[in-house]
Amino acid sequence: SLAVANVQRMASSLKEVPNRYIRPELEVDRVVNDEHVSIPVIDMSKLVDGYGGDELAKLHSACRDWGFFQVINHGVAEEVILNMKDDVQEFFRQPLQLKMECAQLPNDLEGYGQAFVVSEEQKLDWGDMLFILTRPIEGRKMRFWPKVPSSFRATLDKYSSELEKLSVILLSSMARNLGLDPDELLSSFKEGSQSIRMNYYPPCKQASKVTGLSPHSDAGGLTLLTQVNQVQGLQIKKDGKWVPVDPIPGAFIVNIGDIIEIMSNGEYKSIEHRAVVNPEKERLSIAAFHNTNFNAMIGPLPAIISKDQKQAPNYKTVSAIDYIKLVVSCKLDGKGLVDQ
Ligand code: SIN
Ligand code: FE2
Repeated sequence: SLAVANVQRMASSLKEVPNRYIRPELEVDRVVNDEHVSIPVIDMSKLVDGYGGDELAKLHSACRDWGFFQVINHGVAEEVILNMKDDVQEFFRQPLQLKMECAQLPNDLEGYGQAFVVSEEQKLDWGDMLFILTRPIEGRKMRFWPKVPSSFRATLDKYSSELEKLSVILLSSMARNLGLDPDELLSSFKEGSQSIRMNYYPPCKQASKVTGLSPHSDAGGLTLLTQVNQVQGLQIKKDGKWVPVDPIPGAFIVNIGDIIEIMSNGEYKSIEHRAVVNPEKERLSIAAFHNTNFNAMIGPLPAIISKDQKQAPNYKTVSAIDYIKLVVSCKLDGKGLVDQ
């Protein structure tokens, strides 16, 4: 990987925004400005077995038609989320030198730094991140887990296990909606991997000319996102336009990743999205990625193909290991990973 400047520090000095961050192609004019166009909201207290008909149907169309939705009444205690937000904010507030104790190592994404830099010419994102593999637990590398604030490690551990549980509940409802026995989907995610990326986007005087996070679709299975402060920035691509997401306080924003798109043989969609930057305010978010275990095969689920004999597989099947190699060799750029 190539060394890149720390964006938080750069933003705090008065210098011009360097050319490598300026995006002439940014589609600022194609943002939907209509509060009635927004991602679906799923009330998880209504997804209870046997009673969840309407809400299950709503979830099904959210996965099919949007690929993004918010969940309320999700059962994760408010305190768990608040602690996580507080500790992440405190981590990024530390002086650079202290944050660098968790710095990325060469050719690795884990730790504190910047993402997906593959060439000297590549445009850069206006943001820093702390990226940590939280599961499987035996894969944790504690050198990347902040020691300050002192509660950080326990907070992240709790957040990790609560979101893991929530992802299983969501995946089982999705399996039922796809006409599967929940285990036909869940077995690939049992002892799966989870990683958590904490994003820090400083304000930028030329906010309309930079991106916080380039357009991409998530390569993994299911992503659960928390926005830390009330500064908007996430936008999803719908019918060729960018739809801003207005987070409900306390809700999670959920999105389908490429793996679920592939396993559902394309019935569920992994949608392109990006993060824009605010001219005056910093923005923070926490994304938790839920992926299959390392022994899984990534491909259209046999139960889906055989359920409807007329349906041919629309994607190749590869091992999870080969899939991960493919993901890390590509830069974050549009929706290029899904190999049809
Ligand atoms: C993402 O993780 O793709 C979006 C993060 C954000 O909303 O900041
Ligand atoms: Fe994403």
